[in-house]
Amino acid sequence: MTESAKAAEPLPVMDLSTGICGIPLSGPVLNGSGTFDALAARRVFGDALIEDFPFDCYVSKTITMNPRPGNPPYRLWETPSGMINSIGLPGPGLDGFLENDLGALAEIGVPLIVSVMADSAEDFATLVERVAARDEVAGIELNVSCPNVHSGLIVGEQPAETEALMKALRPLTGKPLIVKLTPNVANPQEVAVAAEAGGADSVSMINTIKAAAIDPASSRTWLGAGAGGLSGPAVRPIALAQVRAVSSAVGIPVVGMGGISDAESALEFILAGAEVIAVGTENFRNPRAGAAVTEGLPLALRRRGFGSLAEARAATIG
Ligand code: FUM
Repeated sequence: MTESAKAAEPLPVMDLSTGICGIPLSGPVLNGSGTFDALAARRVFGDALIEDFPFDCYVSKTITMNPRPGNPPYRLWETPSGMINSIGLPGPGLDGFLENDLGALAEIGVPLIVSVMADSAEDFATLVERVAARDEVAGIELNVSCPNVHSGLIVGEQPAETEALMKALRPLTGKPLIVKLTPNVANPQEVAVAAEAGGADSVSMINTIKAAAIDPASSRTWLGAGAGGLSGPAVRPIALAQVRAVSSAVGIPVVGMGGISDAESALEFILAGAEVIAVGTENFRNPRAGAAVTEGLPLALRRRGFGSLAEARAATIG
């Protein structure tokens, strides 16, 4: 179909309301943690941001126990169709987040999922208990997959560690616990099955793929931390394969992400088995990317012959 013919197609009206782990959502579009700074956007755009927020659910940047400065520069490297980040989870720490940021994030008016990461099960427990105790929080994402911090073992690379962590955290809250999976394992479905066995309500995937870049001037590593994680359209086929493998291995819903840049690519994740999707790297290019996905989904669904999100989910590729 030509671009002008596409432009002439009438936009179908479709109810996209859905939910994840019992959290009702007006649509299926989340942001990937750490890819959209809602507080900075509010400072720039004021209440206009809240009136027209680009996501149906907001996932915070990962919060750690103590404040972190993040990794040394450089922290970003652009690749063909993607980017490597080595940010290193800078943030205000748990106390700073709860005191200064959470209230402002709650004003956005969409359900709020807070992402947390710790070096030990004890710190994870403290983070989960204190974050879950706040009424503003609808759910918690457990980041067991950040490739950019030196915490020894990455829990999410080991099924047994993931299950043990979930068993320790599950009794601490009735709120949804979503485990953010790493793609940097041979069989992510083994980790997902372990997360489910430990009591996870959902898994989100994929986090970034371990990557490095060489500075053309110095011939040394470009990123201050030596290496980072690749994201963007370059990783989409990998993410789709992993979402497909995981969603057919577990009974809990999958939050799919990895290089989603428009409604068509978002729909691919639904067809691969994701319940809802998240937009990540594309937010850096277009802060309205989430809204563009929402606006484009009815037409993308209709073009493939689906009358609703549920119909597309039912057609999940086996
Ligand atoms: O380095 C970072 O802040 C990224 C975190 C992540 O990929 O989980």
